[in-house]
Amino acid sequence: MTVSKPVVLIAEELSPATVDALGPDFEIRSTDGADRARLLADLPGADAVLIRSATQMDAEAIAAAPDLKIIARAGVGLDNVDTRAATDAGVMVVNAPTSNVISAAELTCGHILGVARNIAPANGALKAGEWKRSKYTGVELYEKTLGIIGLGRIGALVAERMKAFGMKVVAYDPYVTAARAQQIGAQLLGLDELLETADFVTIHMPRTPETLGMISDDQFARMKDTAYVINVARGGLIDEDALGRALEAKTIGGAAVDVFVKEPAVDLDFFGYDNAVVTPHLGASTAEAQEKAGISVANSVRLALAGELVPDA
Ligand code: MLT
Repeated sequence: MTVSKPVVLIAEELSPATVDALGPDFEIRSTDGADRARLLADLPGADAVLIRSATQMDAEAIAAAPDLKIIARAGVGLDNVDTRAATDAGVMVVNAPTSNVISAAELTCGHILGVARNIAPANGALKAGEWKRSKYTGVELYEKTLGIIGLGRIGALVAERMKAFGMKVVAYDPYVTAARAQQIGAQLLGLDELLETADFVTIHMPRTPETLGMISDDQFARMKDTAYVINVARGGLIDEDALGRALEAKTIGGAAVDVFVKEPAVDLDFFGYDNAVVTPHLGASTAEAQEKAGISVANSVRLALAGELVPDA
């Protein structure tokens, strides 16, 4: 008699290290978590589901998986998982909260450098046959002020890296003490003061009802008209319509955005501005981050399905 193995459903593209770390004791199935109908059809029979940010594990999806024991999100945050519905259904939820913090911080630094020196628009123009040196004159980061909203793991890594460029770092984070900020080398300010002071504003907050739209018309109005705003954290922290208005009115110098209210996002109005640089949710998309996230969630799944304690990541 053959004993059936627990089923692990992989709903998004994950590092091959994930399957290696799961080992031979599971039946691995795959689906496309962004294709809702397919996801719902493939969830029955799954003991575990592995996701990134494109799969909505809401109450309906959880109800479609009566055998489900664990939802594992290979990344930071759990905003695409209905944790209450999971708890009610007795389903464990895990993530990999430190797996991609370096990658997210590095992409942020890349975007800061990119907008300061117009790398993306100059690249586009040159490839379109335009050799325009003065049009793409940028600014130095040296002695400029970087305003970090959210001085958690990623915000602190951004601070550490951008100080190497000679930037002065100020930060807003109601949960961080002045002593911790000082240790990171950042001066804590109120949000309004940060917005009025910073030459570059980067946001590193989770998406919650309180943080959604926290950068909107009033906040853009406070910023310097030369300031750049960067969001590699979560779609919607910056109000997308307000960003379009700020770019149109030239209330700010420009923006770099990696995350969007609704993803995939391919044709938002503000994409039309030369000084708005966009990337398709690449913060965690490095080989290293994906390997770390994949191994971390695979280990959690192995332990959970063996009935063992899953330690906090
Ligand atoms: C994360 O939350 O860690 C990332 O957004 C995951 C992803 O890139 O899918």
